[in-house]
Amino acid sequence: MAHRFLQLGATVYICGRREEVLEKTAAELSATGPIHTLPCDVRNIDAVEAMIDTIWKAAPLDVLVNNAAGNFIARTEELSPRAWDSVIGIVLLGTLHATMACGRRWLKANHPGTVLSISATYAPVGSAYVVPSAVSKAGVEALTRSLAVEWGNRGIRMNAIAPGPIPTQGAFSRVLPRPELEVLALDRNPMHRFGTKEELANLAAFLVSDGSSYINGEIIRMDGGEFLQGAGEFSNLGRALTNEDWESLKPRKKS
Ligand code: HXC
Repeated sequence: MAHRFLQLGATVYICGRREEVLEKTAAELSATGPIHTLPCDVRNIDAVEAMIDTIWKAAPLDVLVNNAAGNFIARTEELSPRAWDSVIGIVLLGTLHATMACGRRWLKANHPGTVLSISATYAPVGSAYVVPSAVSKAGVEALTRSLAVEWGNRGIRMNAIAPGPIPTQGAFSRVLPRPELEVLALDRNPMHRFGTKEELANLAAFLVSDGSSYINGEIIRMDGGEFLQGAGEFSNLGRALTNEDWESLKPRKKS
């Protein structure tokens, strides 16, 4: 997403816990445009406030992207309190801290702003085995919809993207850690493929741009139709029935 925003002329600040990862990313992207790094753990409200202060000293942000996430598959009854804290802290509190830090500043200065949060397709319905993430992403979606209304009359737009699986080392090593799990995930998808980083970046660029200025409070699902395939009572018939089966199911012509 940072790469796409730079291509489109933005000045970008990237934040994360590990300075060496930030520096490596900035080195890869700096030929495309101005990119700055700010080490910060979004779970820590004071660290987020300090980071946003540093940015505002240069110039107010126009766009905030809440992308930091933590997730892993586990049986819920085996989760420790720290495991819950860790995911809820990054996903829900991190999003809340950054959104509040920017929102307060935008409202005070009467400066327009756009927030884009990254959710997950299971947020509205929940999902077994990723419950801390499901709980947190549901909160992110509630925050998005609530503030879209509360702040919408003062120039602030709130939207979110709910992507299906997009292969990255960070995510797949934790949520699809075995090849057979990747096969299962592909089988659930009508397009039979994963999403790409480019597809996510393009949608993100649109949603934070003035081209989407009337879209507010929306959660846009981007999953190749996977969610809907799971929802339709008869959607798996395509795999269960052969051409012969379909022929044999046709009504017989009356002679
Ligand atoms: C059970 C686990 C666990 C696992 C960690 N914990 N992994 N418990 N099963 N697989 C527990 C630890 O034992 C510890 O509790 C607590 O969680 C904190 O773990 P730490 O490693 O000390 O924390 P930390 O270094 O802060 O790491 C945070 C993390 C990690 C969330 C646990 O996974 C992480 O850094 N993730 C960042 C990247 C990421 O997750 N990306 C995936 C996002 S994908 P104890 O009690 O033992 O101390 C996504 C959408 C997917 O969200 C949607 C696909 C369609």
